[in-house]
Amino acid sequence: MGDLRVGVIGTGMMGCEHIRNLRALPGAVLAAAADPHPASRRAAADAAGDPVELFDDHRRMIEAVDLDGVVVATPNHTHRAVLEPIWDTGLHVMLEKPLATTIADGLALRDRAAAHPAIVWMGLEYRYMPAIARLLDLVRSGAAGRVRMVSIREHRFPFLVKVGDWNRFNRNIGGTLVEKCCHFFDLMDLAAGERPSRVMASGAQDVNHLDEDHDGEVPDLLDNAFVIVEYPGGTRGLLDLCMFAEGSRWEQEISVVGDRGKVEAHLPNFMELARGRAPEIVVGDRGPDWPVREERVADDPRIGHHGGHHGASYLELAAWRDAIAGGSPPAVTADDGFRALATGIAAHRSIDEGRPVTIAEVLDGVPPVAPVPGS
Ligand SMILES: NC(=O)c1ccc[n+]([C@@H]2O[C@H](COP(=O)([O-])OP(=O)(O)OC[C@H]3O[C@@H](n4cnc5c(N)ncnc54)[C@H](O)[C@@H]3O)[C@@H](O)[C@H]2O)c1
Repeated sequence: MGDLRVGVIGTGMMGCEHIRNLRALPGAVLAAAADPHPASRRAAADAAGDPVELFDDHRRMIEAVDLDGVVVATPNHTHRAVLEPIWDTGLHVMLEKPLATTIADGLALRDRAAAHPAIVWMGLEYRYMPAIARLLDLVRSGAAGRVRMVSIREHRFPFLVKVGDWNRFNRNIGGTLVEKCCHFFDLMDLAAGERPSRVMASGAQDVNHLDEDHDGEVPDLLDNAFVIVEYPGGTRGLLDLCMFAEGSRWEQEISVVGDRGKVEAHLPNFMELARGRAPEIVVGDRGPDWPVREERVADDPRIGHHGGHHGASYLELAAWRDAIAGGSPPAVTADDGFRALATGIAAHRSIDEGRPVTIAEVLDGVPPVAPVPGS
């Protein structure tokens, strides 16, 4: 097989990140890109470096250009419509998270993905951050023992400005706990080794975007929350989200505690990373003298471009390329995206209605999906 010929659909912030990754990735080339917004097409041309065919409509791109796969990096609420013409092709897909913004769209996409003759890979790239991959490996190898508690704190900066301000309204993002936190619900499931059963949450919009005016509308985005996620086997997850916490040394702090010990990952924010602070892993044991071992996570030599996500986007694209070349199934499926979406939607419903919400009621008769890989 020659180089994987990739078309990027949506060339805003994340699409351009994929373009820069593709430039650095052996065995893959950027063949074309599509975006209706002229400034985003110019950004794609800059990111590509070499001349690249640009389209204002991705349907014309997939007709005109010989492609093997597409990366979809358009706003969350457009994913279903943007993918519609792709289902008539044999193109491989890398779909940015979240899968969708509603259960109905998520279910439709999950089913189309399952029937698609090529790979549909869900862009839940936090799994590929070296420190998080190391934490998950340690948990799988039994360092924590039988996992009982998974706690994920994200204390970060507010949502960035996006093209047309699409990310200022829940109707476009699916809610903060879907948009951003699908990554964390996916990681919780992986650490717990199963899918959740019930969610309890409390959250609000207290600080961010309250002084903005978008054609007479003020953004309605939750900016802080605690979310408790329960698993059928008794494991408990906790998400502690704050989006007005720029002054945090660690942007993500993940701890997994079991009956044997505790495994933690600490990931610096991008400013701290630029100042030279490396991610850390801490493994504590309940054995005699309670030994604690610390590791600084070294740079992964496979990463050809680090970008804004610790090299995770690069490693994820490399895994997609390898699965396509090897004919293997996607490691991160639309099912995974669907379940992370369902947890986020349950959390928002719990906040809105002030009560615990079961995943079953959110899914409302949706047939069960595959178990968590590796569980
Ligand atoms: N993996 C991550 O951690 C991560 C980080 C940021 C964004 N994302 C995801 O990437 C996607 C894009 O986000 P972004 O930050 O790049 O937003 P953005 O606003 O910077 O870019 C979105 C681009 O999509 C274009 N677009 C809209 N409709 C289109 C269509 N029908 N066809 C082609 N292009 C279209 C817009 O013109 C814009 O240029 C979202 O789903 C977002 O959730 C993922």
